Amino acid sequence: MDALPHILTAQAFSKEFLESVFARTDEMVARGGKHYRSDALCGKKVFLLFLEPSTRTRESFAAAALALGASVRSLDNPKETMSLKKGETLSETVYTLSRYYDAIVLRQSEAYVAREAALASSVPVINAGDGPNEHPTQAILDLYTVREWHKKIDGLTVLIAGDLMYGRTVHSLVYALSLYKIKKLIFVPHPLLPLPRQVQKYAELHGIPCEETDCFWRAVPEADVIYQTRVQKERLKDEAVAADSAPKIDEHILAVTKKDACILHPLPHGGELARTALEDPRTLCFSAQEDNGLFTRMALLEMIFEQTN
Ligand code: NCD
Repeated sequence: MDALPHILTAQAFSKEFLESVFARTDEMVARGGKHYRSDALCGKKVFLLFLEPSTRTRESFAAAALALGASVRSLDNPKETMSLKKGETLSETVYTLSRYYDAIVLRQSEAYVAREAALASSVPVINAGDGPNEHPTQAILDLYTVREWHKKIDGLTVLIAGDLMYGRTVHSLVYALSLYKIKKLIFVPHPLLPLPRQVQKYAELHGIPCEETDCFWRAVPEADVIYQTRVQKERLKDEAVAADSAPKIDEHILAVTKKDACILHPLPHGGELARTALEDPRTLCFSAQEDNGLFTRMALLEMIFEQTN
């Protein structure tokens, strides 16, 4: 399977790969979802090396690995407690972990470093977010959620709003969507945080019509999927880039949103989702997206270990 065993970038995905993860996820959902258990990873040890905060990604990977029978280790404060603190490089850290563990799930704050770390590793490395660059497994769960809601991905108009510059989930999502016949991608960025040129170019080279606008309410009625994101404050050098000027989903936006559209957000959220948006049944971030994070990661881990056994 092309994208395995390392999962570093959504650019390495193929449609066949995504469809096989989705099919495996469907099976796990049918066989109990959260209650699915197998011994596919029995005797395996998975290390979660999270050098940035995380709730959903870290815990869904942990729960997924545990459901498949693996042992899971993760440190609360690895930057302080590992030899990284003494100046050891991430590559050396990952190299060492790969001598003890069977897979490493890695989140850290620098772009492209996951790739470097994977080169040092003798076991699969899964990029769980490399700074502002990518978050490929989030794209898998996002697409699975869209496919579940709309029963298709081809032909949809997808609107992506918020911090498109530093939102790594956005970049991976655009790469993954580029494998489908998307009708149109509409970008509504925070005025100071536009999508990196090369990300849009990637979609265009894959034949996806792209459009950028600052008029959220005018673009929304066209969208089958609205993907909202938070301003990545931790990556901003200029604190003055207020979240307030970001597009926001409130009752006015909801009123012009298609009845059958879905609203996604990778979470955590800030002011960009009003309470009415959180309560709207079309908003899936605290329901389907969270569940699918667990289910797709169970599928992915099982497939990775089939490949490496
Ligand atoms: C995202 C991330 O860490 O990139 N969260 C997640 O993994 N679900 C989005 C964010 O932090 O805004």
